[in-house]
Amino acid sequence: MLLEVKNLNKKFGSVSAANNINFKMNENEIIGVIGANGAGKTTFCNIITGYLKPDSGVILYEGKNITKFNVQEIKNIGIHRSFQIPQVFENLGVLENIIITELVAKNKQNALFEDAYSKKNYQNAIKLLEKFSFDVDKFKDKTVKELPQGARKVLDILIAIIGKPKVILLDEPTSGISTDEKNVIMKNILRAIKEFNISVLFIEHDMEIVEKFSERVVAFYNGEIIADDKPSKVFNQNNVKKFIIGGL
Ligand SMILES: Nc1ncnc2c1ncn2[C@@H]1O[C@H](COP(=O)(O)OP(=O)(O)O)[C@@H](O)[C@H]1O
Ligand SMILES: [Mg+2]
Repeated sequence: MLLEVKNLNKKFGSVSAANNINFKMNENEIIGVIGANGAGKTTFCNIITGYLKPDSGVILYEGKNITKFNVQEIKNIGIHRSFQIPQVFENLGVLENIIITELVAKNKQNALFEDAYSKKNYQNAIKLLEKFSFDVDKFKDKTVKELPQGARKVLDILIAIIGKPKVILLDEPTSGISTDEKNVIMKNILRAIKEFNISVLFIEHDMEIVEKFSERVVAFYNGEIIADDKPSKVFNQNNVKKFIIGGL
């Protein structure tokens, strides 16, 4: 088992953001996470990645108890994430963001003072962008803050993949972009991620996208997992229809 979460609980005051969560993830799985706002999806990602500590419960990664690991330790063992609000250097160029992230991932911060911006590093960054079908010619000389939302999202996810994690958690990777663009982005991202043998958990509100791109769906409601199965099964479950997707 790649990742396993047992009896996870987290309260904020009287709000139960994680209520006895049990969850398992295998290698090479693509899991969609659904649930209304406030259901506990981000909290779940925050706990797994060490940004929040649970009140109780255990997180195992390849059988090892990582519940007490900090953010950096969790990243180092191979669990990465992207954020609802992207975490990149806004005023730097697209390529420079990739180069710096690569160097940090390799723990070569000192290299920043040497030849971080070498021709080789630029070429590698371009190659990586191309793998994700990022429009390199159009955007490579732009700073991140000049990018349109779609390109920005791809860059954000790509940066989370640098360092070759085994698990990646994507918190609303396609929020704020059009449906047409969502499809293209998810297709390109997931194809590239698969190539690296990374297991993916992505939070997504668009049920068409969830159905199309996930092999398994986990549904959150009030801090609990109320369904965990193939997309068609989850979407047919009465409480999922009632509380999440409508139609009951
Ligand atoms: N840092 C926090 N402090 C207090 N309450 C929080 C905090 N983070 C999340 N919550 C609460 O926990 C619940 C779950 O939130 P969240 O995990 O962000 O939901 P989702 O990502 O599904 O929209 C919500 O009621 C939210 O208000
Ligand atoms: Mg959220």
